[in-house]
Amino acid sequence: MSQAEDHTTSRRDFLFYATGGAAVVAGGAAVWPLVNQMNPSADVQALSSIHVDIANVAEGTQLTVKWLGKPVFIRHRSQADIESARGVEMSQLVDTNARNANKPSDAQATDQNRALDDAGQWLVMMGVCTHLGCVPLGNGAGNFDGWFCPCHGSHYDAAGRIRQGPAPENLHIPVAAFTDETTIKLG
Ligand code: FES
Repeated sequence: MSQAEDHTTSRRDFLFYATGGAAVVAGGAAVWPLVNQMNPSADVQALSSIHVDIANVAEGTQLTVKWLGKPVFIRHRSQADIESARGVEMSQLVDTNARNANKPSDAQATDQNRALDDAGQWLVMMGVCTHLGCVPLGNGAGNFDGWFCPCHGSHYDAAGRIRQGPAPENLHIPVAAFTDETTIKLG
């Protein structure tokens, strides 16, 4: 076989395998382990929802729980916290989106749209700075009586909204709901 014929045969074989069933099966076999690794295992799926007992979270304090590998802040706010958060105008905010998974994606970042209950006593947020992912300090920290991320100096207010510093977004709010008076379900 000449070199030219050899080249033609190789090219034809390549086209056959590239378009034939064998290529699809081979591709599927190669891809499956990756897809399978991306599916959460049974124990991780079991934790995609957790119930948190908040009976002992005193007013003015915060409970931090780990959910899906990340910290979640559950803050029992004082009346002063609520008034501070509700006294803020939208025009004062850096990010006017509520960032609340329970609300429509275009919901405004009013305190009412971020608090878990109508009275605003409970605020549940991901404890992950929206700049580069550090865990902010809480319990009235920072220049706006909320949370402060010391990594690069981001200040969040009493509703967890970014007010100063490099973080671009308000602290995110996960899917959360009361299942009874003293239990919050995450997820
Ligand atoms: S990670 Fe929070 S300010 Fe940079």
